[in-house]
Amino acid sequence: MIANWKMHKTVDESRAFAREIVRRLGQATLPHQLIICPTAISLWAVGQELIGSSVMLGAQNLDLGREGALTGAISGYLLHEAGARWVIVGHSERRQFFGDSDALVGQKVAQAWESHLRPIACVGESRDDYREGRTISVITRQIEALLAEASPEALRTLIVAYEPVWAIGSGAVPDPVQANDLAALIRQMLAQKIPDDAPNIPVLYGGSVSSKNIQQFLRQPHIDGALVGGASLQVEEFLKMADIGS
Ligand code: 13P
Repeated sequence: MIANWKMHKTVDESRAFAREIVRRLGQATLPHQLIICPTAISLWAVGQELIGSSVMLGAQNLDLGREGALTGAISGYLLHEAGARWVIVGHSERRQFFGDSDALVGQKVAQAWESHLRPIACVGESRDDYREGRTISVITRQIEALLAEASPEALRTLIVAYEPVWAIGSGAVPDPVQANDLAALIRQMLAQKIPDDAPNIPVLYGGSVSSKNIQQFLRQPHIDGALVGGASLQVEEFLKMADIGS
């Protein structure tokens, strides 16, 4: 289960959340791998709190390149040095508001791997695409860009999150069986380039996941976990979703 905090929580709030999670987890054996993705500015502080725990740290985006005259950019190497081991790429908010194209998302997957980060690549159709029956063609186009830009080595380290844009932050969720079919399609497409590894690539569902509906997605055979936004911001709800609530 991956918590994507987006542009929420100050450094202090992020640190306090991480400290509380580590305290509450104690020695518990987790049913799922947990990854927390705070803002870039809180990565280091959260990473320090997570040392010695099984909760892992991820970033929300990376820029291409290693270092250079790129004002405001943050490379995968810097994210790794700050403690991140995972990075979200191609989130629909990046595609929508920051102009991340399909090809750039593929390049970022390749760059993540170069920087020793594991990429969490997001795909998903918009509300219009969904209404007009273009879901499969959009997902196909987005996955094809990953296959075109990233090497088999990079693809083997991938997690894919299927996040329908219309489900993000809306309270609306797709039929879990349809989400499962799309997860199966994603895996099938990955098999074109990594036939032996595709069955083991984790495919997650994301979009308005909460403790109330997470199980209906996790029950699906092709869905291995969840990428959670709003519901991951509260410790109690986070623990409930991770199946370790008191
Ligand atoms: P919500 O869980 O708030 O709908 O956000 C989903 C998401 O975009 C996670 O990356």
